[in-house]
Order: sequence, then structure tokens, then C-alpha cells
Amino acid sequence: MCGIIGYVGTRDVVPVLIGGLKKLEYRGYDSAGIAVVNGHGVDVVRAEGKLSNLEGKLADHELHGTFGMGHTRWATHGKPNENNAHPHRDCTGNVVVIHNGIIENFLPLKQRLKAAGHEFKSETDTEVVAHLIEEYRKDGTPFIDAVKKALKELEGHYALVMIAGDDPGTIVAAKHGPPLVVGLGEGENIVASDVAPLLAYTRNIIYLEDGEYVVANDKSVDVFGRDDAKIDREPKKILWDAVMAEKEGYRHYMLKEIHEQPRAVRDTFNGRMFEESGEVFFNDLQFTPEEWAQFQRIHIVACGTSWHAGTVGKFILESAAGIPVEVDYGSEYRYRDPIVDASTLVIGVTQSGETADTIAAMQEAKAKGARLITICNVIGAAATRMSDGVIYTNAGPEIGVASTKAFTTQLTAFYLLSLYVRQLRGHDKDDIRYAMHELSVIPHKIEHLLKTQEKKIQQLANRWHNAQDFLFLGRGVHYPIALEGALKLKEISYIHAEGYPAGEMKHGPIALIDENMPVVAIATHTPVYDKVVSNLQEVKARDGKLIVICDEGDEEMKKLADEAIEVPWTIEPLQPILAVIPTQLLAYYIALRRGCDVDQPRNLAKSVTVE
Ligand code: AGP
Repeated sequence: MCGIIGYVGTRDVVPVLIGGLKKLEYRGYDSAGIAVVNGHGVDVVRAEGKLSNLEGKLADHELHGTFGMGHTRWATHGKPNENNAHPHRDCTGNVVVIHNGIIENFLPLKQRLKAAGHEFKSETDTEVVAHLIEEYRKDGTPFIDAVKKALKELEGHYALVMIAGDDPGTIVAAKHGPPLVVGLGEGENIVASDVAPLLAYTRNIIYLEDGEYVVANDKSVDVFGRDDAKIDREPKKILWDAVMAEKEGYRHYMLKEIHEQPRAVRDTFNGRMFEESGEVFFNDLQFTPEEWAQFQRIHIVACGTSWHAGTVGKFILESAAGIPVEVDYGSEYRYRDPIVDASTLVIGVTQSGETADTIAAMQEAKAKGARLITICNVIGAAATRMSDGVIYTNAGPEIGVASTKAFTTQLTAFYLLSLYVRQLRGHDKDDIRYAMHELSVIPHKIEHLLKTQEKKIQQLANRWHNAQDFLFLGRGVHYPIALEGALKLKEISYIHAEGYPAGEMKHGPIALIDENMPVVAIATHTPVYDKVVSNLQEVKARDGKLIVICDEGDEEMKKLADEAIEVPWTIEPLQPILAVIPTQLLAYYIALRRGCDVDQPRNLAKSVTVE
């Protein structure tokens, strides 16, 4: 997730761009840059790291103009350094592009353009767009027409802003996936990733839809569709204040991030699995079948929510890899003198990539000769720098302390890794393609789930927000979801909650069950569904209040439960991605009802970088 902004008007553009990028910094901040069109062409200044580094460079390298663009980066392709920072340019330096998303077919395009003599300076997918436009301009095609031709060749997800130094005053911006909005001012117009940077100049906003693009100058904004036909799009009047705008109208970052999960999961598998060929491909992780065959065991080390993701990962990976998988807390692993050698693969799972206990556990394993890979959400974070391979979760910055989209994208990463391992072990391609297809439709299923169940969960939260304790139950692949649901609730509502294997309840926790104890159970159809039904009947027999997360249309379960939250059907390994979402929403709405600080709960930090 990156932040992009483009301005054309009469103001001094640098303060407009920097001010706008500050409002977008939450979307990405590992590097930044701006481009300003002046009398003789385009000046570009970029800097690695925080936006303040870019401001420092601009203090020594003043730019002036009334037309330009800016970008804060959350790297997906290419390390977060100045050379990979946006904006990117063509060979002439005249065509300048900034981008949010992933151009999936950038490799074949880059090869074709290199063969045509284009010289590339970065590792990014974005730079391809600038050279593609340049290629189409070679026969004298006007800039706007060259952009139209280039857009038709791009595959993947992108929000793009493009300008040409030799065609000053015209901004072209295109949307296909990530958000792109246009602010209509008086004698000025501005495009951006979201509303926040626009509110200082206008409240008349046009939201672009996928496949649309705009051609803007200081006097007009024209919207075009996929077929290049003009679209008459009425602007909306935005009444948010600036803070609400950064949350895109959501009350808290946590709720926004829960709703970002369809996009986050899609961005995690996009460009990595190809249903046509049945191939899985990771940019930053490569094993040969021979290298993979060396591994005799897998250890997963993590903390908190990431440990829960690792526990789901165990279920998914063990069946794919056919070798034992252990999951351990980082804080335990680092001191238990684990039995590790070169035949051990250790997977560190960490959203921040900076968690001290997880890193220390990985260091312990590395010192004993293990191969390391990391599942991480932050490019270039400490855990990634010590690993032999990385699977980035592409969730975008997670601001809420309670982890949500990072968790579901970690599960997505484990699922992709299991397909990769099956590919290495020569498993049937059709089975792998089927598994890919089921993952490809998960974003739609999350959207459906959010749309149909959120209101019911909010009402549930209003009924149970004063409960003193909660018990979460799950079996098999859903046991970690019971643990995760309990953690979500206790860390933001401060209600005591425990997650338990449903089969374990009769060995003790059943003593807790009475009419005041809400029991949340995950009971979608898995091979142990009937066992779970028996466990839940034990709860009912003791007047426990049963809130069940079940398959849509499971009438038997809906009869048994006091409250049923219905999730769409999917295959067992993917069910945790859907089943966890009701627990995230339940925790959120209970905490909200209790007046807790949802985004920054007491005593907690987003990244625990100390032991
Ligand atoms: C999750 O909601 C918590 N914020 C916490 O348990 C977190 O998952 C844990 O601290 C691990 O963080 P990491 O994923 O950045 O390593």
C-alpha cells in the first residue's frame, strides 16, 4: 500500500505535495519522492526512509512549479532504497510515473522494452510503465494517447499517476484495484490515493472505479472508461474531518483494517500464483526440489497473533510437506536449547519483523545451522535481513495494535507456501490448481461475510459487552482461531477470555459453564464437525450461552446455538481466514461498547522490540 498524490493548479506545488504526503504517510513510509514540472522539464527528488528525509533533501535542493506529483512507498518489488523510490522515469526523463499496487506482467514487458533499447534504473515493476509510454510516443503519438495504449497492456492491480515534462499541465491518473480519488478545486485539481490530502483544497471528490482513468489540468477533469468513452461522474461532497479521512471514514484503524482484508489477502496472493500453469512463484524465496528434500523438520517461531498464524500454518504445512512441524513461542524457543541442524527449516512469523523474542529465536536456530525463512509485513525489517528467504504479506501498514489483516495475510502466506512445497514435491498440478482457485475467491467471500454478518455481530456485542468472561472453542485447524479470538477480545476490551480445544473442555473448563458464560465456538464443516457438535451439546446441557460461527445455511447448528454467525463455505485449510473475521468484529464492537481505546489498548505496543 503506497500513498500517491498529483497536483495541477496555481499554488507552489512542493508544499502541496509534501503536505499531502504527510497525510498519506500511514499508507507507506519506507521511501518517498516528488516530481515537479518547471520551464525546462521535470525535476525529481527522492529519499530513502521517512518523509522527513525527503524534506531534508528539498531544503538543499529547492524546487518550484505549480504542477507535480509525490509518492510514499511501501515496497513490494525491490528493496526500500532511493533508487527504487518513486517517481520513476523513462529514458528521456520526461515521462514520470508513480504507482500503488502490483503490475503482474512487468517482467515480460520489461524484457520487451529492454530488447527495444530501453535502459532501466530500478528493480521496481512501476518503471516499466514510464518506458512503455515512452515506447508508444516514439512515432509522435501524443502523451495522453500513449498512456491509453500503455494502460491496455498492464495486468494486475494499480493506481497510477502519470505526467510528461514536455506536456506540462496535464495529469493522467488510472485506477484498477487500489483506490484513486480526484479533488475538484477552483483553478486547481488534485488526485490522490484517498481523501485525506484533498480536504485542504476541496470537498468535491470524484471516486474512480476500476478500469477508469482521468485526464486533468487546472481547468478541467475528464473521466474515461475502459473503452475510452467519456463518463459523466457526479462529484460527492465529503464532510469528514482530516483525521476521519485518514481512516477513510472508519471510526478506528482497526475497523478499517478489518475491512481491508479482501484487498490485503488479494495483494498477498496476486503475482505469486498462476492458475493457468498451476505455478507458485515467490520473488524472495527460492528452493530447488533437492534443497527442499534436505529438510527433515520445520520449526515455526512467533509471538502472539503471529504464533496463532503459525499454529494454523502447522496444520496446512505438515500435510503438504510430509515432515513434522513444531510451533513454538519465540520467548520459549530461544531458551529451550532446541534440537536444530542443517536439516531444520525455521520459519519466523512476524508482522513487524522487529519482535525481539521472535528474532532471538531465529538467531538461536541460525547459530545451530538451520535455514531461515520469514513471513513478514515490513520489507527490509530485521527478521527479513537475517533470513535465507522471505514471504511478504503485502497487507500494507497495520496501525491498529490488535493485529487483523496481518493475521489473515499470514494465513494466506502459509497457504501459498504449502502449494509451493507441493509443487516442489511434484504433487498433482490439477489439485494445486483447484487449491489456487479456492484461494482466489476468498477475497469475495470475505466481502460477502462482512456485508451480511457485521450488523448481527454488532448487535451481539451490545448484548454481551458486560460479560466477565468468554470461552472460545475450536478443534483442529480452528483451535488456533479459538485462541486468536480470545486474544483479540482480551487485548482490546480487557474482558478475560480463554481459547480452548473443544475436545478439552470436559477436562476442566466445563466447570466454568453457566448461563453467564458466553461460549464462542467455531463449527464449520471439517472432519471433526460431529465431535464439535457433541462438545457444544455439553455446553448447552449446562445452560451455557452458545455463539457459533458456522457454515452458511447450517440449520442444525443454528438450532443448537443461541446465536449463529454464518460464514461462506470453503475448503478446510482456508476456513480459518473466514472464521477469524467474526471474532475480530466481535472483539471490536464489544471494546467499542465498553468505551475502550480500540486502536491503542492499555499496556500494549504494536511491536514488542524488547524481551
Ligand atoms: C496481536 O493482536 C498483538 N498485537 C500481538 O500479539 C502481536 O501479534 C505480537 O506482539 C507479535 O507481533 P509481530 O507479529 O510483529 O511479531
